[in-house]
Amino acid sequence: MPQSHSRTVVVLAAGEGKRMKSTLPKVLHPLLGRTLLGHVLSAAAPLAADRTVVVVGHGADQVRGHLGEIAPDATPVLQAEQLGTGHAVRIALEAVPEGAGTVVVINGDVPLLRPETVGALVTAHEEAAAAATVLAAEVPDPTGLGRIVRDADGRLEQIVEERDADPTQRAIREINAGIYAFDAARLRDALGKLSTDNDQGEEYLTDVFGLLRSAGEPVAVHVAADHVETLGCNDRVELASLRALLRDRVNEAWMRTGVSLLDPATTWIDVTVALDRDAVVDQNTQLRGATVVGSGALIGPDVTLVDTIVGPGASVVRSHAVGAEVGEGASVGPYAYLRPAARLAGKAKVGTFVEVKNSQIGTGSKVPHLTYVGDATIGEQTNIGAASVFVNYDGVNKHRTVIGNHARTGADNMFVAPVEVGDGAYTAAGSVIVDDVPAGAMGVARARQRNIEGWVVKRRAGTAAAEAAQRAGDAKGASDVAPAASDSEAMHGRAETVGGASGAGDTATD
Ligand code: UD1
Ligand code: MG
Repeated sequence: MPQSHSRTVVVLAAGEGKRMKSTLPKVLHPLLGRTLLGHVLSAAAPLAADRTVVVVGHGADQVRGHLGEIAPDATPVLQAEQLGTGHAVRIALEAVPEGAGTVVVINGDVPLLRPETVGALVTAHEEAAAAATVLAAEVPDPTGLGRIVRDADGRLEQIVEERDADPTQRAIREINAGIYAFDAARLRDALGKLSTDNDQGEEYLTDVFGLLRSAGEPVAVHVAADHVETLGCNDRVELASLRALLRDRVNEAWMRTGVSLLDPATTWIDVTVALDRDAVVDQNTQLRGATVVGSGALIGPDVTLVDTIVGPGASVVRSHAVGAEVGEGASVGPYAYLRPAARLAGKAKVGTFVEVKNSQIGTGSKVPHLTYVGDATIGEQTNIGAASVFVNYDGVNKHRTVIGNHARTGADNMFVAPVEVGDGAYTAAGSVIVDDVPAGAMGVARARQRNIEGWVVKRRAGTAAAEAAQRAGDAKGASDVAPAASDSEAMHGRAETVGGASGAGDTATD
């Protein structure tokens, strides 16, 4: 936006927010990916101000810490005692060199404010060369807010706080949004003249308007097109309704760019998330933080993604992911948990009741069922049998497991790290793999099975099991045909008796 002279942004964030009833300062409460303060600062960002001052007071250290993370260029200024919004701005300007220009003041608790709206306020103010311009809005319920009092010609006369207003003024539904543009020099001058002669005994920033007007200075009102943008947040009920309003705004914007939201009312997308065209988001889904969803990906139902990157055409169903990467065409869930640095390459699969942490799963590889994969590297086109655990932690240190390409590991394996299974290797079902398995080998690590014939009939006589066993014995005697070991029996746990020639448990869980 064109800028002829210097601009300073002052954000007022020293208040306690008593009605939030929280140990967290009000402006640090989160709302779809940013704090209240973060939303306000990002609405002001396009003003390209020469400096941004944030007045801190309650929870000053916490607010300063947060500023360091989200807006390191902003200057926090301490208002040790909250003596009013006018006092707060006075203190802020003490940290700013005197000079010509515009001072934009924004209450720290108006998170729905759009950059376009602050921009329009400042442009109108600067073009009119006004001494002060207030953002106003016509609201259905003005309770608790400052009223815009206009004269017979419709010009701003003063801003009156509700508690200081007479009944006629209270009936006014045009309110002060708490967002202003001022001429720097005239603001400084007026701030020096504020009194505390009001119901709260505070220095009101809003009184600057009456003072300037009385001095014959031009003061103006800029009316917001949408009053929703000016809604403040004073308690958790308001915070929840602001969150729902922001959700609707964000969802509408994504649908207009070509993303399908099957149930917008239960879809919560942080303002920091990015989605590509033709992504489909099903119901009960939260997309948070730095999450990115590629085109044509299917997310949901019942999914939470935090800081997770999902490639084009991938699907994530009824799952929770934090700091993970899901490659193109990969599939996750239902009921998977991807933890930080879980990285699935293209067409990989993490299936049902599977947890993955700090592991790479190569292209086309599958971990289909009931498995924990921690600190592992799995190659391409490999299949991990059901109910396996990558035993990564010895109680002191974490170790890695490496599994090669085209490997087939049996069901119910423990990979006791550090350990490696080579390319094309197999492992037998039920194995505890503590030693490396070379490429192409069959790793078998379990006790041999021993059957004690007739045990049930002898030791559990009279039970239903014994009777069933007896009937089976009679039938066998009658037909005298022994059942052949089938392929599937071999796969279910007889690898060693078939010399490792068949799949050792892997295909049974593919
Ligand atoms: C203020 C306005 C009111 C307007 C409303 C919009 C004044 C006197 N009144 O009222 O006209 O309709 O906002 O929401 O300005 N703060 C400080 N230091 C202080 C006092 C406040 O930093 O000493 C900060 C608060 O943290 C908050 C903002 O200023 O972010 C507004 O203060 P608040 O007490 O909420 O003012 P309201 O009574 O809501
Ligand atoms: Mg307020």
